[in-house]
Amino acid sequence: MADRRKLAAGNWKMNGTADTLGMVETLAGAHGEARSELLICPPATLVHRLAGAVAGTSIAVGGQDCHWEETGAHTGDVSAAMLADAGASHVILGHSERRADHGETDAIVRAKTQAAWAAGLTAIVCVGETLAEREASNTIDIIGGQLAGSLPDQATGLNLVVAYEPVWAIGTGKVATADQIGEVHDEIRRRLEKRFGAGVGRSVRLLYGGSVKPDNAAEIFAVENVDGALIGGASLKADDFGGIIAALDAA
Ligand code: 13P
Repeated sequence: MADRRKLAAGNWKMNGTADTLGMVETLAGAHGEARSELLICPPATLVHRLAGAVAGTSIAVGGQDCHWEETGAHTGDVSAAMLADAGASHVILGHSERRADHGETDAIVRAKTQAAWAAGLTAIVCVGETLAEREASNTIDIIGGQLAGSLPDQATGLNLVVAYEPVWAIGTGKVATADQIGEVHDEIRRRLEKRFGAGVGRSVRLLYGGSVKPDNAAEIFAVENVDGALIGGASLKADDFGGIIAALDAA
């Protein structure tokens, strides 16, 4: 089994202003020595400030999206190179909220992933089925299609993390069961190994996301092929994020 370092990644979504950064100090104080890798992805406006605030701690900073081009006439967009310049080391791509709100297709996510890699960022590529797709027993096909379409060929265990986020479990308090998570994560692992070879396929970390909280984290982290979590709401509170980090460290 490949030696995959666990990763707890917070996705603040469109939440956070300068006064939110105080919780990061609390978090760094309590979990600066965590065995797991820690990452916070604030809104783009806070990337640079957060990078300054966590300098000297083990917490890394990521963006939540980037454009596929490096510069140009794209009003309102931010490029991967700009995120890197602001102090980010990671970027979330293809989150279901961007796929739904901004019509992002697998091809767009793939182009963005390539741009992220060109800028030296690790891409956290999100996949996940809707409730209707799950109820129609299409989950594995949907995830397989998203992986095939969204991931460029040059994936490595360092430049890629895959996050499985069932759309119906995001922000709803509904968590996928351990069996549901295990089935999808095993399938993602198999597909990564088949496409990229066993070495790369085994070294890419797989995160679960969707209503992860301190009280359900241990059960989720006990599932095979779950290497951490992508955490929304709970990542905005130092106590909740800290509880999840503690559960991941103990897993
Ligand atoms: P919640 O943890 O708020 O359900 O959000 C999950 C998510 O979308 C993380 O990217």
